[in-house]
Amino acid sequence: MNDLSDRVALVTGSSSGLGLAAAMALAQRGARLAISSRGGDRLAAAEARLAGTATEVIAVAADIRRPEALEELVSNVEEQLGPIDILIANGGGPRAKPATELDDVDWQEAIPLTLLFVPRLCQLVLPGMRRRGWGRIVAINSVSARQPIPGLALSNALRPAVLGYLKTLSQEVATDGVTVNAVLPGYTRTERLEELALSMAERTGQNAVDIMTEQGSGSAMRRLAEPREIGDTVAFLASPQASYITGQGVVVDGGYFKGLV
Ligand SMILES: NC(=O)c1ccc[n+]([C@@H]2O[C@H](COP(=O)([O-])OP(=O)(O)OC[C@H]3O[C@@H](n4cnc5c(N)ncnc54)[C@H](OP(=O)(O)O)[C@@H]3O)[C@@H](O)[C@H]2O)c1
Repeated sequence: MNDLSDRVALVTGSSSGLGLAAAMALAQRGARLAISSRGGDRLAAAEARLAGTATEVIAVAADIRRPEALEELVSNVEEQLGPIDILIANGGGPRAKPATELDDVDWQEAIPLTLLFVPRLCQLVLPGMRRRGWGRIVAINSVSARQPIPGLALSNALRPAVLGYLKTLSQEVATDGVTVNAVLPGYTRTERLEELALSMAERTGQNAVDIMTEQGSGSAMRRLAEPREIGDTVAFLASPQASYITGQGVVVDGGYFKGLV
């Protein structure tokens, strides 16, 4: 399916995990891709991996916590590939801590990493999308925005804030042809998940593999998600076929969330 041919997509946090899976799914649909992370070997390896599948791929290093790095990222991508049609906003998750152990430093570190980079990136790409009358913004969020996950107080607090921002934005830009959505993954087999399991193992003395098995068994499907399952949903929301979907948080969790909405 080449429905994204000639579309330019920027995917942040795409050297691994869900961001890389989203980049791969966009590449399969023919998008011209810019991937990004803090840089280093993992980003270079992701670029090499995508080179065989994407029409065109570039890799640009940028720390999403720094506003000026985001400005440079967007202008660098637009210089090399042209105007950005699709933004996939993703990054590293905040520290895993229970609410009773949080201090000010935790909040100060988590807010730019989990919340602020989303509006900052949106502000940079939106003027062009609105002028051209077409755009897709998809943020990778978390099922924790629907159902708080024990021990992840920062994620539980900040993910809903991102959704509140995106919902508001979606209302403001809908008539300009720009859709704004989020994908809310459940437990997915990535490096981040392994890190969380290891940190929980340290705290509780449990085995990290058992923790991951338990996380998978919390879903109705009794298994973890594979990154591809999240990437395909992101790519669908970025596609022309998703033209009447905006302001939504699409949960992709194998039935982990037990509420109605
Ligand atoms: N995996 C899950 O089960 C799950 C479930 C729900 C939500 N999520 C959320 O989804 C997001 C992605 O998770 P993941 O599992 O794919 O994690 P991951 O494998 O650790 O990937 C995180 C990506 O973000 C990049 N990154 C981290 N800090 C960055 C920074 N300051 N600036 C720029 N890039 C940065 C990393 O690249 P570099 O290290 O190269 O910079 C990497 O490409 C996270 O926010 C996570 O909390 C994950």
